[in-house]
Amino acid sequence: MIGRLNHVAIAVPDLAAAAATYRNALGAKVTEPEDLPNHGVTVVFVELPNTKIELLHPLGDGSPIQGFLDKNPSGGMHHVCFEVYDILAAREQLKAEGKRILGDGEPKTGAHGKPVLFLHPKDFDGTLIEIEQV
Ligand code: CO
Repeated sequence: MIGRLNHVAIAVPDLAAAAATYRNALGAKVTEPEDLPNHGVTVVFVELPNTKIELLHPLGDGSPIQGFLDKNPSGGMHHVCFEVYDILAAREQLKAEGKRILGDGEPKTGAHGKPVLFLHPKDFDGTLIEIEQV
């Protein structure tokens, strides 16, 4: 069912500093910050030859990233995103396997303008998983 690794997301306490680290220390191509109010985050993408790194920073009150940063003040890996070709078929397969979909279970529009769902970390060895339809 799953296809390519679309991105690995890292929550960061200082988005400009993190973007500069990837740009300068690692020589990576880094996109401009983009606010995603529906997700409560500002994102920057580090573009690698085979995948992307998504740097996440809280946006607004009640951001899901704020709680993560409160527990991990220096930042850390937040989720991995796998590509799927049919997100509703993927959802039904996951539910049939007893895996929990977060939120109301309906796909939301993600950072790339495509439908995404998040899966419960307790069902995946403590890792938050995002699936994105491509
Ligand atoms: Co993501």
